[in-house]
Amino acid sequence: MIIKENMALAPMTTMRTGGSARYFVRAETTEDLSKAVFFAKEKSLPAFILGGGSNTLVPDEGFPGLVIKIEIKGITYEETAFGVRVISGAGEVWDGLVCSVIERGLFGLENLSLIPGTVGGATVQNIGAYGAEIRESILWVEAFDTIQGVVKTFLYDECAFGYRESLFKSNKHLVVTRVAFDLVRDGKPRIDYEDVKKYFMEKEIDLPTLVDTRTAVVFIRTAKMPAPPLGTAGSFFKNPVVSENRLENLKRQFPQIKSYSQGNNTVKLSAAWILDNIGGFRGARRGDAGVSEKQALILVNYGTATTENICTLAREMKNDIKEKINIDLEEEVVLIKVSSAREVFFKKVASK
Ligand code: EPU
Repeated sequence: MIIKENMALAPMTTMRTGGSARYFVRAETTEDLSKAVFFAKEKSLPAFILGGGSNTLVPDEGFPGLVIKIEIKGITYEETAFGVRVISGAGEVWDGLVCSVIERGLFGLENLSLIPGTVGGATVQNIGAYGAEIRESILWVEAFDTIQGVVKTFLYDECAFGYRESLFKSNKHLVVTRVAFDLVRDGKPRIDYEDVKKYFMEKEIDLPTLVDTRTAVVFIRTAKMPAPPLGTAGSFFKNPVVSENRLENLKRQFPQIKSYSQGNNTVKLSAAWILDNIGGFRGARRGDAGVSEKQALILVNYGTATTENICTLAREMKNDIKEKINIDLEEEVVLIKVSSAREVFFKKVASK
């Protein structure tokens, strides 16, 4: 394990912006991770855990601590009474795992095809697309506790999964190392999502197979965003959740507004629809920072944009929507900053 100094981080993120890490290390095993954490503790440095860098923004001034890139690999398959238990290292490429399980005829992850990033990152933020979320297939998650220096296993119920949320996102001292999925051979394709339904109707496919489902998702995704998503970080904002009453009020002014029911009298509003139809941001350009022409939720670095340029545009979008309909858009992307780092190291600094 080699700890490097002043490592440029822009090439390790899909947005391709930002400065360098003071220290940088690749963790290929839990042992590497443990040693890296020890190094940071010794030097009283903040640490940031990086996966595939597809949801992460690096500040232009860089990061003054240790960036640990999780590269824990390996996938195992175990037959169970109901199907197959697939255990993957957190550093596996997410879509690589999706392809391997589809090749084995296993249902569960196909709607999440082509999402960039690693298995660890996908779990931390409970990725979702086309009517499925990763949590639905997860049995347990193994994480390294940087405070206690031990590996722990969390069963599904302990993982506190929510919309782009999990225990591991809100507890920065828990670093995902391995994830177990329960997948099935006799599953049914999930084709309820509007775009997926439309795809199969147009193709006149009544009974899509597992492979058809992947093909559909890949087709729909690539029509809206580049793959790999270079110069973007996927959806920049989350879809805001509001009460049904609030939706009714908004509908008086914007009858076409898109929403998805969440139960509990709440709905998820389509941030892309709002930014497109109320904000008018689709295709906007502010120099090399812009908004995709195909999807208003995707901010794009068209070449030489800085992280500050992207964040200035994001602020403009947030302020505009706040002013027009009093809704606060919340970022889905994570900015690498000292306050989003593993806070354990700051406790250490404070106690010195
Ligand atoms: N729409 C517009 N204008 C646009 C884009 C979309 O009006 O510019 C409307 C369309 O009517 C469309 C609806 O908004 O039907 C929803 O758009 P889309 O299907 O693209 O989904 P989304 O809600 O914008 C979410 C996830 C994506 C995921 C897709 C597909 C979030 C924040 N984003 O986007 O996830 O791929 O659904 O299921 O939940 C990501 O998290 O990085 C991500 C890409």
